[in-house]
Amino acid sequence: MSTIIGIDLGTTNSVVSIIEGGRAVVITDAEGQRLTPSVVAFTNNDEPPIVGHSANRQRILNPRKTIYSVKRFMGRRGGEIKDEDMFVSYPVAGAGEEPLRIVIDDRQYLPEDISAFVLKKLKADAERYLGESVDRAVITVPAYFNDAQRNATKKAGEVAGLKVERIINEPTAASLAYGLDKKLDARIGVYDLGGGTFDISILDVKGGIFQVLSTCGNTRLGGDDIDRRLIDFLLKKIEEAGGGNLSGNLFALSRIREEAEKAKCSLSFQDEAEISIPFLAPSFSLRYRLTRKEFE
Ligand SMILES: Nc1ncnc2c1ncn2[C@@H]1O[C@H](COP(=O)(O)OP(=O)(O)OP(=O)(O)O)[C@@H](O)[C@H]1O
Ligand SMILES: [Mg+2]
Repeated sequence: MSTIIGIDLGTTNSVVSIIEGGRAVVITDAEGQRLTPSVVAFTNNDEPPIVGHSANRQRILNPRKTIYSVKRFMGRRGGEIKDEDMFVSYPVAGAGEEPLRIVIDDRQYLPEDISAFVLKKLKADAERYLGESVDRAVITVPAYFNDAQRNATKKAGEVAGLKVERIINEPTAASLAYGLDKKLDARIGVYDLGGGTFDISILDVKGGIFQVLSTCGNTRLGGDDIDRRLIDFLLKKIEEAGGGNLSGNLFALSRIREEAEKAKCSLSFQDEAEISIPFLAPSFSLRYRLTRKEFE
């Protein structure tokens, strides 16, 4: 029987793993990286898009055709999404009852079609690692995902050429990874701060069976939102420093976003971060020293 791969299809990053010798092993890609940014970029309409790190790297130069955070649009209709969530650098269509679609030139993609490109890459990474073809997977979703969102995730797997054996709740998968199914019966809490979401789930484990008793959180609160707050803050500082209003300048915004995320991450282990963005506007370069106190 062929190997079943396990995929964590995240808003920001995705991971593929397999069970080897009874343990979960994360598969690295050709560059030796364990995390694959859930980013898909179209460079030329006739060619398949680029995915992961390479897509993320060219994001600044290609903001309207670089798709990130598409998980928040999975299985959703226009009317279900708040304006704030539409804050992405690529065009999204679909109002009211219409399913959301990503618009690339004259083509429209459903979120699951975009996710399928990420899944295809993870499938290929697993195949390279295993030296055999892979056509079965389990994929994780947030515990609060509704049927439409779960179905869209399953569809993404199918589009990528994977038979989706099971859709597993992320907190359950996390508990399994810690071997909590083999411990005594217990009630556990799983806390997850991701890119687009933040949640905590309470699970009951009995005889190796997990039951999500409750899950709560914020589907619109995650690292991306912290980035966004920091971007707004920097836009204000830029305007005050005479750099003009750059809030409509996608190219500048992409660069600010990248530096904002870097600064945020470094403030997790240092007290200060130096933000430096040369030639943000023709005659303006940003240099700002952000302290953890100010950030918080
Ligand atoms: N050292 C750090 N300090 C602060 N934030 C960090 C750090 N490292 C990563 N992050 C943030 O964590 C987020 C990504 O988390 P993760 O990869 O778990 O998300 P995800 O699983 O893709 O998202 P989700 O669970 O919402 O689907 C990003 O916003 C990233 O900036
Ligand atoms: Mg996650």
